[in-house]
Amino acid sequence: MSAPTTPVVELRDIQLSFDTKTVLNGVSLAVEPQDRLVILGQSGSGKSTILRLILGILPPTEGSVFFKQFEVSRLARRKLQKIRTQIGMVYQYSALLSSRNVRDNVALPLEELTRKTPAEIDKTVDEKLELVGMNGVKNQMPSELSGGMRKRVSLARALVMDPELILFDEPSAGLDPVISSVIDKLIISLTEQSKVTSVIVTHEMDSAFRIGTKMAMLYQGKIIEMGSTEEFKNSKHSVVRQFLSGSTEGPILEGSQDAIAT
Ligand SMILES: Nc1ncnc2c1ncn2[C@@H]1O[C@H](COP(=O)(O)OP(=O)(O)OP(=O)(O)O)[C@@H](O)[C@H]1O
Ligand SMILES: [Mg+2]
Repeated sequence: MSAPTTPVVELRDIQLSFDTKTVLNGVSLAVEPQDRLVILGQSGSGKSTILRLILGILPPTEGSVFFKQFEVSRLARRKLQKIRTQIGMVYQYSALLSSRNVRDNVALPLEELTRKTPAEIDKTVDEKLELVGMNGVKNQMPSELSGGMRKRVSLARALVMDPELILFDEPSAGLDPVISSVIDKLIISLTEQSKVTSVIVTHEMDSAFRIGTKMAMLYQGKIIEMGSTEEFKNSKHSVVRQFLSGSTEGPILEGSQDAIAT
């Protein structure tokens, strides 16, 4: 038997409340090296909140968040900033700075977090833009790019520090189905090439099944099912089945995310 590996991310019994509202109510999950874990859940179920917990932007009310051996919520600021350099983030609507061109957007983490020279930065930026097929638009402004191109640029920016973990918030948001599957393929090839672990949150089923190696479903503050994509397809859980089929018949009701008892 091989020795157990340390998960890249682990959430242990996380409770998270905003004022009187409990969003996460006992969430535990582990992401193993090179997994692409897709977290599924309704709008407002707390998917982006989980990513913010992993990044250490938001402390849990109770429970622990680990990135490798580090307990994120207990780290001093400097150490946390160091850890964050190992985590890439791709935001829902790409979140590029509109006043900076493509090259400068991708260079940003290198300028802020490293002591690389401008020539070294240029080299790394070129490499990453090449990887996402965007070297030709280096000098363009984000407003001149399509949604799919902006997403590629934000992928390059997430890769620029050679992270061990990349977090994706709704990678298909705002993209048409064709571009969305192109981006999914790019996410798969980039994460496989760089042997990087990823957590992807989405409510788009096609994309989830394309990208994921594992899946977890968040519902009413808890992970109600977690397993391989195959196990998910065959899930007997009524909430999972309804979510996968998009049916209006079943336990999920409109507004049911507001129903967590506190
Ligand atoms: N800073 C905050 N203060 C108060 N409530 C918050 C805060 N951040 C998130 N929430 C609430 O927590 C819940 C979960 O939010 P979150 O953004 O994680 O949902 P989500 O699953 O990502 O939804 P979507 O699919 O719409 O992006 C929502 O009801 C939201 O209103
Ligand atoms: Mg969200």
